[in-house]
Order: sequence, then structure tokens, then C-alpha cells
Amino acid sequence: MRHIGRAIHGFLVENKRLIINKTAIDMKELSKEEMSPLSSLEVWEDDVLARYPEPGPAKTKEEFRVYDSAEDNPVREFYRLNHKYQTYDNVLAKKANFLKFDKMEMPWWSAMEYLNTLVDDSDPDTSLDQLQHLLQTAEAIRADGHPDWFVLTGFIHDLGKVLCLFGEPQWNVVGDSFPVGCKFSDKIVYPEFFAANPDNNDKRFNTKYGVYTHQCGLDNVHMSWGHDEYLYHLTKNYLPEEALYMIRYHSFYSQHRENAYDHLLNAHDKEMFKWVDKFNPYDLYSKSPVPPVVAELKPYYEDLIAKYLPATVKL
Ligand SMILES: [Fe+2]
Ligand SMILES: [Fe+2]
Repeated sequence: MRHIGRAIHGFLVENKRLIINKTAIDMKELSKEEMSPLSSLEVWEDDVLARYPEPGPAKTKEEFRVYDSAEDNPVREFYRLNHKYQTYDNVLAKKANFLKFDKMEMPWWSAMEYLNTLVDDSDPDTSLDQLQHLLQTAEAIRADGHPDWFVLTGFIHDLGKVLCLFGEPQWNVVGDSFPVGCKFSDKIVYPEFFAANPDNNDKRFNTKYGVYTHQCGLDNVHMSWGHDEYLYHLTKNYLPEEALYMIRYHSFYSQHRENAYDHLLNAHDKEMFKWVDKFNPYDLYSKSPVPPVVAELKPYYEDLIAKYLPATVKL
């Protein structure tokens, strides 16, 4: 594992300039705080969980992170940056760079271990690592008797977070996803922060439909850049369409929870979003403090990978 980490680090140092030069925003201009406003990506996920708590008895305040004031809330700062910088041009630049898949190539299981080298400042005693979250999600799906491709989807759904290891700021990796190229919905969390997004003042992009047409279908819509869209492109030739919808739109909360973009979805999207809805509770509510035993589960997941995915993944 450490060996993989060293090799990867060397690769990134060599290629950092290449990656940075292909982006619309000059990453060199960003401070450490603008790159990583959150102590860990889990802080964003906990915030989503607080926003959409599990149905049933209400949780006590102590079970959620509480901040002294709005200004102290790192999630708020995270969304300020996300909403400011997620422009149409940012998305096109990220696609031009990352959809070349020319960064590295490795077996899928090694890629999952690579994702797990994403260590952050959070308390290691209380937080689950990426692999543990993925295994818990997948095991909850498996326990409910769903098809094996659904289980595999749970297992890999956050692999796109490797973008962080390629030097991407957190707001270009996680956060609620939303369409760019048209008016930002008020149903997206912290909508007021879109005032600082240049697209908000651009006539091409700031109308209800922007560059799109009525119910044109999400396949024709550019979503904000992040781990969902990236993994969709990594898997689109290998998994059933239902799985691809779960992967691509699992952070599109303003649609799957609030129906904010019904005017862009076509009838097929609406049908397929039933699967996104089916997946979401496993992502949000399967966290348990008991970590899964990776070594015991590995053979099952290696078999699943071999059944559906090619021997290696090109990142
Ligand atoms: Fe995710
Ligand atoms: Fe997740």
C-alpha cells in the first residue's frame, strides 16, 4: 500500500503542471483554504445527512456537527467556493482534461486502495475511511437482496473522489451536483452564493433553460464537475443503465429530493431516477461505527469486479 502511495506521489509531482494548465481556473491562484475548506470530505457528507436525516425518530443535536456561528461553518465556506467556481467553462475544462483518462492505469481493487490513500485532517478514531464507507454501502445493498450489479455500484460509487489525489480542490470533487449552462435553482443548498458565479450574469446561461431546451434529457445537460460525473464516464461501457444513473446523479439532491429541474429531465430520466432514489438511502444511512473487515470481504468484491469490469481502470 505504502509502495503504491510512493509511486503515485511521484507521478503526481511530475504531472501536476500538466493537470493544472488544462483547467479554466488557475489553481495556482488558490490558497490552501480555497483548495480544502473542509477538514475531510466526510464533513460534507455529514452535512447532507443533517439536511436529509433518516426517516424515523429525530436525532439529537449532539449527533450532528454543531458550529458556533455561520461564519465558523466550513461547509458554508465550501459551498461559497463551489457555487462561485462551478461554471460552464470549468466543467468543459475538467471534462477535456479528465476524460482523457491518461493519468494512471491500475487494477480496480488497487484503485479502491488508491482512493483510500486520501487521508485528511479528520479524527481517525471517529471517521470511517473511504473503503469502509463503500463496503458498508455495498453490504447494506447486498443484505437487502438486490442484484449483484447494484451491490457493485454501492462498492465503487465514490471512487471518483480520486480527483482529490490529482490535485483538484474539494469543491471540484464533492458537494451537491447541479446543471451548469442554465439558471441555478433556488432549491440548491446555499443558493445565495451563486451571485458570485460569473455564469449568473451571463445571458447565455442565466435563463431557466439557458443552453438547453424543454425536457431535452439529462444526457444533453452538463452537470457541475465532481466525483459522480467522473465515475460515470469510467464505468459507462460496463454497467447497466440503472447503475449508471445511480453513479452519475447520486449527489444531484436538488433533483432527486426537490424536483428542481423537472423541466430538463425527459420521461426516461424520470423513470430512471427511481433507481437514484433507491440508491440514496444506502449512501446516506448505511454508516455504522463498526468497520467492515476488508480482508474477509475482498474475495467477494474481487469476483464482482471481474464479472462486470475490465481488468484495469484508466484514471
Ligand atoms: Fe458520493
Ligand atoms: Fe458515498
